[in-house]
Amino acid sequence: MSREHLMPTQLLTIGEVAQRAGIATSAIRFYEKQGLISSVRTAGNQRRYPRYVLRRIGIILAARRFGIPLEEVAEIFGGLPEDRMPNKRDWTAISRRWHARLAARRHEIERLEAELNGCIGCGCLSLNTCRLFNPEDQLAAEGPGPRRLPWDGP
Ligand code: FES
Repeated sequence: MSREHLMPTQLLTIGEVAQRAGIATSAIRFYEKQGLISSVRTAGNQRRYPRYVLRRIGIILAARRFGIPLEEVAEIFGGLPEDRMPNKRDWTAISRRWHARLAARRHEIERLEAELNGCIGCGCLSLNTCRLFNPEDQLAAEGPGPRRLPWDGP
């Protein structure tokens, strides 16, 4: 492929995207199904991706590395334009939202770290602090599991 064709709007096959992104074509289809990226169809009904989807995929992969769920990525990407290539201003708006999310997540992790040192309300009554935070396992009345941790159930 010659360098003069390397434009952000250049259309790539799924194989070319997979090769450049370093992921399987099935992952690309999956991300598309989740609405994280989109393609256009050729006259022969084959998928083609604008080259700029590589940036979205790069961000998806980075988010996964940080344990950010795809639903959250999709929500953040929801602010990107559908009908044109995202510009710097679009990405700046996204990065502000991302920053707020990451700050909230950091806060959650710090809270979790702090709580792990003390009673988590699990019913074990094994620490001195359990007497203070879960006397006689009173938290069991609220339901099962570690009641003093963020808990969605088993
Ligand atoms: S740590 Fe288990 S009840 Fe306190």
